Amino acid sequence: MASSSSFHLCVLFVYAILVNVPTTCYGDHDHHVALFVFGDSFFDPGNNNYINTTASARANFWPYGETFFKYPTGRFSDGRLITDFIAEYAKLPLIPPYKQPGNHHFINGANFASAGAGALVETNQGLVIDLKTQLRYFKHVESLLRQQLGDKEAKKLLSRAVYLFSIGSNDCVSPFLSNSSFFQSYSREEYVEMVNGNLTAVIKEIYKKGGRKFGFLNVPPWGCIPTVRVLKPGNSSECWEDVNALVKLHNYALSQVLQELESQHKGFIYSISDFYTSVRERMDNPSRYGFKEGKSACCGGGPYRGMNSCGGKRGVKEYQLCHNPSEYLFFDSGHPSEMANQQFAKLMWSGTPNITWPYNLKALFELTQF
Ligand SMILES: *[C@@H]1O[C@H](CO)[C@@H](O)[C@H](O)[C@H]1NC(C)=O
Ligand SMILES: *[C@@H]1O[C@H](CO)[C@@H](O)[C@H](O)[C@H]1NC(C)=O
Ligand SMILES: *[C@@H]1O[C@H](CO)[C@@H](O)[C@H](O)[C@H]1NC(C)=O
Ligand SMILES: *[C@@H]1O[C@H](CO)[C@@H](O)[C@H](O)[C@H]1NC(C)=O
Ligand SMILES: *[C@@H]1O[C@H](CO)[C@@H](O)[C@H](O)[C@H]1NC(C)=O
Repeated sequence: MASSSSFHLCVLFVYAILVNVPTTCYGDHDHHVALFVFGDSFFDPGNNNYINTTASARANFWPYGETFFKYPTGRFSDGRLITDFIAEYAKLPLIPPYKQPGNHHFINGANFASAGAGALVETNQGLVIDLKTQLRYFKHVESLLRQQLGDKEAKKLLSRAVYLFSIGSNDCVSPFLSNSSFFQSYSREEYVEMVNGNLTAVIKEIYKKGGRKFGFLNVPPWGCIPTVRVLKPGNSSECWEDVNALVKLHNYALSQVLQELESQHKGFIYSISDFYTSVRERMDNPSRYGFKEGKSACCGGGPYRGMNSCGGKRGVKEYQLCHNPSEYLFFDSGHPSEMANQQFAKLMWSGTPNITWPYNLKALFELTQF
């Protein structure tokens, strides 16, 4: 039976042709799976271009973007991010920044991620779109979808959608790098509980709106990432293991929290990909994964090119840039190259359970029980 909502859907279909996005008449397809993205710089396609922040939280200048887009989009990489590859594998178009002016088309999902963001409001406060605000934006998108599709179709879209998160990295470095007293007033255990408590609250709100399929990248070994490695007190080239210890505590808590959510929420299903292990392996054995360099960045200044000066727009003009970013695990002092992002995306999409568990993203996208 033709309903008024399928009329709206086909109006959107015509619109989709005009703006050159894949031409599926959404209402007629039971297999449409949207992608909603939350988190930090690993997933931010340029939301920070549109907020009041500093150049440290932006990547909208050369050489960012040089490999694939050929212009700086705001992504912290030479090319595509993990989420760009995931969209491709899921046969979706690239999901643009939610904040991009003129972005009103959310049938394929939305990306709310913001470089520098954490699960805690206090993490880089005032410079980023924190996770709570990202949730508020999601609720706005949810109400727009209900207006456009009607309650029933919108609910279907939201329950079939996959919700991806990369969050916690910035929370895990704040106690070491921020001099705000907030970060010194908790024990490590209390702190990790607070970070995961805030993340859980956001997941529960999305669940209430119909979300069922959740994917997570855990936190990489920040103590070894060039920008943090060079800040380690003392003068050694080793990783800053105190930072890694907090990250491990966080990653363990995250895996526990997800098991609890699964047991307490009917239909809740998740995927967690072990970014900690996959980054560490590539750092320690770069050649096994096709890289020439696993410790130093392609773009940046000083030892390990760990100074966050890539592009010369963040106060320090001097920086070095490698010729071929695909030979490097890290493009800038804190972020993977496109080549590395593609490998991480493959692990999230189709990785075996020793790296991505209990399901991989391919399985979440293919699930049609909802
Ligand atoms: C952006 O932030 C700076 C520093 O906090 C402030 O001086 C400026 O007025 C803000 N600009 C806008 C447009 O809000
Ligand atoms: C720490 O805080 C003080 C006072 O707010 C400020 O002047 C100083 O620059 C900060 N140091 C760092 C490393 O952020
Ligand atoms: C969320 O974080 C805030 C600090 O930003 C903290 O006061 C609060 O207790 C946390 N909430 C949960 C549920 O852990
Ligand atoms: C740190 O060690 C390197 C050699 O490993 C040396 O070149 C550099 O001058 C040292 N820096 C400081 C501040 O001692
Ligand atoms: C996971 O298993 C695959 C295939 O069984 C193997 O090639 C890979 O090295 C393993 N990865 C880890 C991190 O153990």
